[in-house]
Amino acid sequence: MALDLSVKLGPLELASPLMTASGCSGYGKELDRYHDLAVYGALVGKSISRNPRLGNDYPRTAETAAGMINAIGLQNEGYEAFIKNTLPRMRGFGPKAVVNVVGHDFDEYVWLVERFDAEEGVAALELNLSCPNVKGGMRFASDPGECEKLVAACRAKTQLPLIAKLSPNVTDIAEIAKAAERGGADILSAINTLVGMAVNWKRREPLVANYTGGLSGPAVKPVALRCVWQVANAVKLPVIAIGGISNADDVLEFMVAGASAVQLGTILFVEPDAGQTIHAGLKERLIEAGVKRISELVGTLKPRA
Ligand SMILES: Cc1cc2nc3c(=O)[nH]c(=O)nc-3n(C[C@H](O)[C@H](O)[C@H](O)COP(=O)(O)O)c2cc1C
Repeated sequence: MALDLSVKLGPLELASPLMTASGCSGYGKELDRYHDLAVYGALVGKSISRNPRLGNDYPRTAETAAGMINAIGLQNEGYEAFIKNTLPRMRGFGPKAVVNVVGHDFDEYVWLVERFDAEEGVAALELNLSCPNVKGGMRFASDPGECEKLVAACRAKTQLPLIAKLSPNVTDIAEIAKAAERGGADILSAINTLVGMAVNWKRREPLVANYTGGLSGPAVKPVALRCVWQVANAVKLPVIAIGGISNADDVLEFMVAGASAVQLGTILFVEPDAGQTIHAGLKERLIEAGVKRISELVGTLKPRA
């Protein structure tokens, strides 16, 4: 049976529904040594800001039950170095290159979007609206008015497919999704990490120097599924699922719940070749289920019989 794993997310067409999640595998070269990256439809790089950032104090990651906490604090080399050294390589791996941008403030986001619009070989821009580990970093992800204004200002600066990445750390994620849609986003991605904490009681210390950090991995998958389902039902835009996705069945659960594509994050720390394993697993599952085109499964969740 000829299988079709391609997906279309509005203006963004991908040969495979698998993408990398920002911050979990660098910019391509970190994974390239493990397998042919053609199993990915797109690579999403770690958030890029205007100037280089050193990030938070160490330690910045800790393992927790079924997941991890990170408070990296958006360390990155900054726009100039990225376009000079990293973006050219990122474009060369085969999958489309998606640039994830983050700003300290409104103007920095808009500045970055305008600059990347002029760069060759950028397939889409993902706005990291939430930076839970950075002071004041939650405004655009939690206030619908602020979110809409920011997305609209970014929209005005680019023709590239624009992805708004949503945070689960809000009362009603559907409201924020609608605001991003009104602002002119083409695609929504969800979720970023959940604010969490881990403590060593004997030392009376937090496990990460920042005290709190973002929880990710299998522990967050049910929350991510709920968010993706709510968002997909609230907007007309295609949705990219992120959160604890670790195998082919996870991917298909999110697609049935409304996702058109998925991003792999924390699993890549455990199994750097997960993209390859999951891609093969998807083919097996589709054959078992007699489904030729993976896109047929998107949003097919129905009430229990
Ligand atoms: C170590 C680490 C660094 C991350 N850095 C970023 C980042 O720079 N920008 C961003 O938008 N998301 C970042 N994330 C969030 C992931 O892209 C993803 O949304 C989240 O981890 C949930 O997916 P997962 O459970 O599959 O990891 C980071 C996550 C981790 C674990």
